[in-house]
Amino acid sequence: MKVAVIGAGTMGRGIAQVFAQSGHEVVLTDMKADALPVAMKNIENSLDRLKKKSIIAENPGEILSRIRPVKQVDEIGQNDLYVEAIFEKLSAKMELFRSIDRFAPKTSIIASNTSSISINILSTAVKAPGRFIGMHFFNPVPVMKLVEIIKAERTDPATVESVVSIARGLGKEPVTSKDFPGFISNRILMPILKEAMLCLQEGVANAQDIDRTAKLGLNHPMGPLELSDFIGLDVVMDIMEVLYSEFGEERFKPPIILRNMVNSGMLGRKTGVGFYHYGDE
Ligand SMILES: NC(=O)c1ccc[n+]([C@@H]2O[C@H](COP(=O)([O-])OP(=O)(O)OC[C@H]3O[C@@H](n4cnc5c(N)ncnc54)[C@H](O)[C@@H]3O)[C@@H](O)[C@H]2O)c1
Repeated sequence: MKVAVIGAGTMGRGIAQVFAQSGHEVVLTDMKADALPVAMKNIENSLDRLKKKSIIAENPGEILSRIRPVKQVDEIGQNDLYVEAIFEKLSAKMELFRSIDRFAPKTSIIASNTSSISINILSTAVKAPGRFIGMHFFNPVPVMKLVEIIKAERTDPATVESVVSIARGLGKEPVTSKDFPGFISNRILMPILKEAMLCLQEGVANAQDIDRTAKLGLNHPMGPLELSDFIGLDVVMDIMEVLYSEFGEERFKPPIILRNMVNSGMLGRKTGVGFYHYGDE
């Protein structure tokens, strides 16, 4: 299958990698000039690590040769599947889907990796919304098994079936969701993160003990506060804001401790400080 991945950031590069690992021909593009070489190097390093651990049998060079980086979106050409992984901005995504719709073959599937934008809204950017779908991967893509497949009101059942089968072919576990805010994963996760933040805000326990409780008592692989730092506190706040505005329910409202941290530039791992300190990482 020929796959185009648009956006070569954190998610796009991982998505390109897993498709290439499964034998698909991938074309990868990004509007930022230096994003493509960085992404290709990152994929190469990731494949080398997987090879060393014997997780992949194929030579990393061969897998890498199936990914063709191109500088312009209009050079991605004719593909069977288009996966968008650009910034989480509605207007940018709509513009991109309108342009893909102009040259993509009628039989192709167009998918978005959005975390929080309505698939129904995005699907209006293409003339035949039956072929439009959400394909929500998790970070880091080569490691995380889950793919949420989001069906908009007008998504054709055959499109859902194809994408479920494509995800399985990548070695992923697909789940299907209606187009509801936060789909399944973020709807469950955000109240958990919020409650942990409230425990800290109210002085119930310190960050380490809150995280240790979730890990050792609830069997979560990461504590909710370290997970928030990993995702990025600004991203967590944006997702909570979307859920809060859509559902209007207190359980999704970002807590004051989160607002204060985001407003003061404490965004988690990426800024070196969040609920924890990360030194020079
Ligand atoms: N980071 C995560 O954990 C995560 C998880 C699941 C889904 N998502 C979703 O995936 C998408 C991408 O997130 P990310 O974390 O990879 O972002 P990112 O900022 O790391 O990468 C986005 C890339 O898209 C490029 N880009 C922006 N507009 C473009 C355009 N019009 N054409 C071509 N390239 C363009 C940027 O230059 C950048 O390299 C978002 O919709 C986000 O909500 C993110």
